[in-house]
Amino acid sequence: MERPIGMFDSGFGGLTVARALIDLLPDEDLVYVGDTGRYPYGPRPQSEVREFARQLAWGLVKEHDVKALIVACNTASAAALDLLEAEIPVLVIDVIAPGARALVRATRTGKVGVIGTVGTIGSGAYDRAVAATGADVQLTSAACPGFVEFVERGQTSGEEVTILAERLLAPIRQAGVDTLLLGCTHYPYLADVIGAVMGPDVTLVNSADATARAAHAELTAAGLLRTPGSEPAVHRFMSSGDISWFADLGGRLLGPELRDAEQWHHE
Ligand code: DGL
Repeated sequence: MERPIGMFDSGFGGLTVARALIDLLPDEDLVYVGDTGRYPYGPRPQSEVREFARQLAWGLVKEHDVKALIVACNTASAAALDLLEAEIPVLVIDVIAPGARALVRATRTGKVGVIGTVGTIGSGAYDRAVAATGADVQLTSAACPGFVEFVERGQTSGEEVTILAERLLAPIRQAGVDTLLLGCTHYPYLADVIGAVMGPDVTLVNSADATARAAHAELTAAGLLRTPGSEPAVHRFMSSGDISWFADLGGRLLGPELRDAEQWHHE
């Protein structure tokens, strides 16, 4: 099927999912939108995030004729997945259900944690997704306001971010979890800091790989995978904010596929 997969996030975070997807499905065409002009989504009211998600999803369907949509943002998945599944006429894949399944598979003690934005954690979406797995686990959650802003500035290590991580992760450490899900697609870029604060005995689970595997399974089941042809896959990266910053930091975070960025115009 020669139509691209569409993905969106509030900014650079969904690039962690794009990286995993390109590695797993290198023949797929991709259109990625980072809504950097309006990030962060985490502190915004759910109703506003729903509207942003709806605009981006319809933009990808109408302007780019995407065959599937990956909501590469936990905050948008938490706020808008039901709406997108009901309205958008293509396969919709979120990050929350695959992440929750990967979390409960990875734990040995049953004490698990999830961290995310204020919007994601406040929505209770992970409590519901973990309960839906049927696993007998005890979940501790914590919102981490400020993490996304560090990533968007390109500051993924150092004292400032470590001090913030020590404060925000304290309740998760006290709960004695053995596995922690990074329930925001920006957080894998902070994995070194988060891992150092949590210590070597805590396994970090990243929803990017789990989402790429879910996308592979769902596209295969729907008969939507692209047949590899003579043309190499096309990966397009778009931003609603400053495209030179998007190409510069995005290229450093994602890798060589992100050489150029294009301007995304909201409808
Ligand atoms: N990357 C988004 C997520 O997974 C959040 C970003 C934001 O707060 O803008 O939740």
